[in-house]
Amino acid sequence: MGSTAAASVLPVSAGSGENLILILDYGSQYTHLITRRVRQLGVLSLCVSGTAPLASLEGLRPRAVILSGGPHSVHAAGAPAFPEGFLDFAAAAGAHVLGVCYGMQLLVQSLGGAVVPGERQEYGKMDVEVTAASSALYGEAETGKRQTVWMSHGDEVVRLPEGFEVVARSVQGTVAAIEYREKRFYGLQYHPEVTHSAQGMETLCRFLFDVCGIKADWKMQDVLDEEIKTIQSTVGPDEHVICALSGGVDSTVAATLVHKAIGDRLHCVFVDNGLLRYKERERVMTTFESDLHLPVTCVDASEQFLSKLKGVEDPEQKRKIIGREFIAVFDEFAHKLEQKIGKRPEFLVQGTLYPDVIESCPPPGSGRTHSHTIKSHHNVGGLPKDMKLKLIEPLKLLFKDEVRKLGSILNVPDSFLKRHPFPGPGLAVRVLGDVTQGNALEVLRQVDEIFVQAIKDAGLYDKIWQAFAVFLPVQTVGVQGDQRTHSNAVVLRAITSEDGMTADWYYFDHAFLVDVVNKICNNVRGINRVCQDITSKPPATVEWE
Ligand code: XMP
Repeated sequence: MGSTAAASVLPVSAGSGENLILILDYGSQYTHLITRRVRQLGVLSLCVSGTAPLASLEGLRPRAVILSGGPHSVHAAGAPAFPEGFLDFAAAAGAHVLGVCYGMQLLVQSLGGAVVPGERQEYGKMDVEVTAASSALYGEAETGKRQTVWMSHGDEVVRLPEGFEVVARSVQGTVAAIEYREKRFYGLQYHPEVTHSAQGMETLCRFLFDVCGIKADWKMQDVLDEEIKTIQSTVGPDEHVICALSGGVDSTVAATLVHKAIGDRLHCVFVDNGLLRYKERERVMTTFESDLHLPVTCVDASEQFLSKLKGVEDPEQKRKIIGREFIAVFDEFAHKLEQKIGKRPEFLVQGTLYPDVIESCPPPGSGRTHSHTIKSHHNVGGLPKDMKLKLIEPLKLLFKDEVRKLGSILNVPDSFLKRHPFPGPGLAVRVLGDVTQGNALEVLRQVDEIFVQAIKDAGLYDKIWQAFAVFLPVQTVGVQGDQRTHSNAVVLRAITSEDGMTADWYYFDHAFLVDVVNKICNNVRGINRVCQDITSKPPATVEWE
């Protein structure tokens, strides 16, 4: 995350900043996990680029800074280093500094120790032994004991800077944990944030609460109260706000929160683009109106979208067309609203989440440049350039599970909060090829409904991150009721995931699958073959297009 984002986030429920943890990101795939783990312990953590200029950290008074791991060697040309003056900044703030993996090597090298390419590279699970008689990170009770940790390093520390002490070593003899308590420096060669590190959370707890003396005072109710105050002071008493609701958790929670702050000066629009799931429009509108009392205008634009998509097969082309149509519908909504209330809406609510903010600012060394553009596929349609709306993004500091907690405080029904994610382009990315071919969309809706309902009936819905069906533009030969058929094939996909970035396919038991396939073939005309996608991500993606 870039500098401006870091500086602008502090007012949002960071309190006095006394109990803030700053994570400097050096590009590890686990950096977000550190941020999440700290928050799970009730402590606000913010992730910023490990090479962000020091000026962007000014005003932040972190109690501790965690230096993340990263794919680099400290010796490589262009390897990311601390922001200039970082160690003085940490000392002046009285902050404790914990280096993890690359972060530890960077700390050691910067303070005059030696890091060399390891003779024995350590990847995967490894036992480490606590060697120090008394250490801050482990306590006396762990002395002489072993624990399994997750290692992922090629370089190793061979000489410590003055004042440091080795407090744990791997069974292969490499330095696994170091401390220099007087100067508040700590290092772990392994990843405590990964569940494979059996006692990793205990070590993180010791670091936060015993070593740094942090209080676990970050609560969702405070986030809510702060956000409401911020919105009330941002939006003037006569100003109006608009919001596009997608039917997903993020935009719904964001809108509910803003509605609580400014009431009916919030105007929402829900667009039926003809690419929604079975009865989705009715179901979602009922929740908006009856349960959440949100002021929502439902626009039926299905004809508009589908006519533009006719004959289009290329997935990216489909996404672009859908994006453009969303903008057109949205623009018209804003225009009509202006005529109705006699005033141009000034603000736009977006359900941007923290991973979107972080992801749009690639880590150092990734080869990508920093940018604050939200990943296009997380943003339903982009924004019309000439709308000149100011953004309200009340969730931009939160992860998905935190948004669900916030939604629950706002009384958003549980059934809604736990809905599986659904892509902005909807079923267009699940009907492969031309979405308007025959009655592919209708067939897919029925198959999808049977599959998802069966999952709910079996009590599996909450165990699965996302489950859906995909329509293949492929006809296969079958035999149904003594007749040969030549009908379409569908694919069932169900995955487990923490955040959609990586995923495993869900393992259904045999009887469940037999039952679902029977239901589909017996109830949906035009389908005579059902396949299951058993590919994880990577190498596949979640969606088929
Ligand atoms: P992939 O297919 O990239 O999906 O592995 C990861 C997560 O993102 C969702 N997804 C989308 N969401 N617009 C969206 O709003 C899109 O174009 C899009 N493509 C994928 C996908 O459903 C999964 O949760």
